[in-house]
Amino acid sequence: MSYESNWGSLISQISSEELSLKDLITKLNYWDQFNPAYQFKSNEFIEKNTVNIIYDNNIKTVTIKEAASLKRQSVMSTIGSQIDDSVDAVIELGSGFGRNIFMLYEEFSSKYPNVTYIAGEYTAGGQDVCSAIVKKYDLPIISLHFNYYDWSSLYSFIIEKNYKNICFYTSYSVEQIPYLDKQLFLDLLKINNIKFTHIEPVGFQMENGNPQYSGNPNYNQNLIQILTDLENENLIKIDTYKPDWFCGDGGFHNVGSLIQWRKI
Ligand SMILES: C[S@@+](CC[C@H](N)C(=O)[O-])C[C@H]1O[C@@H](n2cnc3c(N)ncnc32)[C@H](O)[C@@H]1O
Repeated sequence: MSYESNWGSLISQISSEELSLKDLITKLNYWDQFNPAYQFKSNEFIEKNTVNIIYDNNIKTVTIKEAASLKRQSVMSTIGSQIDDSVDAVIELGSGFGRNIFMLYEEFSSKYPNVTYIAGEYTAGGQDVCSAIVKKYDLPIISLHFNYYDWSSLYSFIIEKNYKNICFYTSYSVEQIPYLDKQLFLDLLKINNIKFTHIEPVGFQMENGNPQYSGNPNYNQNLIQILTDLENENLIKIDTYKPDWFCGDGGFHNVGSLIQWRKI
């Protein structure tokens, strides 16, 4: 998988850079979102160069530095807004090397010390980079194998730990799965209390979504259908439904829509 080969080279950069966790996370945001050369960029570069982004449905031209800050804000105001003292675990499905989970941990771990942060990722490369950051900064973050086509190991882990109140989220990982299996959600709905945030390029599946902003035929085709079915079956309540909400790169071919729901 191409992700795996790209992420592997990060491990040596992470181990050689002497940065605070917060600074590393900030740099990883520039790197992943805005720099296809896969290198850390200078402050001068990120303060001078601009990029067109979509934030909260509005198109803006901002510096790369500002764009990374809005990217952080997009995570905090959505996934972050679901975290509080009552939550046992925050779990990302398809986490890559974990840039979102590190951001959330760094923001909320002192405020809500009892929450466990879990990065569920399919590729060994993503898990390896995640583990390298965890090791370097001695963090209590758990890196786990997760596969959208066979979620049994993640599910067993949740049952073993007896987590009762979980915030799940997905960020551009459902996109990778052309047809999700509804049974994944039916199984997760067996857990006492769950909430989900999705930031995924599924606007073309949504009412009022712009088909030009997403709609890659190789990407996910059925997230909204599954969630609508679950809501019609009175199993979930969709609280937030915003097509074409965020995009951190100028092409606008893969704009993330925001959907938040909870078990009822
Ligand atoms: C575009 S990346 C997004 C990574 C991360 N969520 C983020 O926002 O930085 C897509 C992710 O989906 C993961 N993925 C692809 N196929 C998967 C599968 N079958 N099960 C779980 N994750 C998968 C990839 O390995 C990758 O981590």
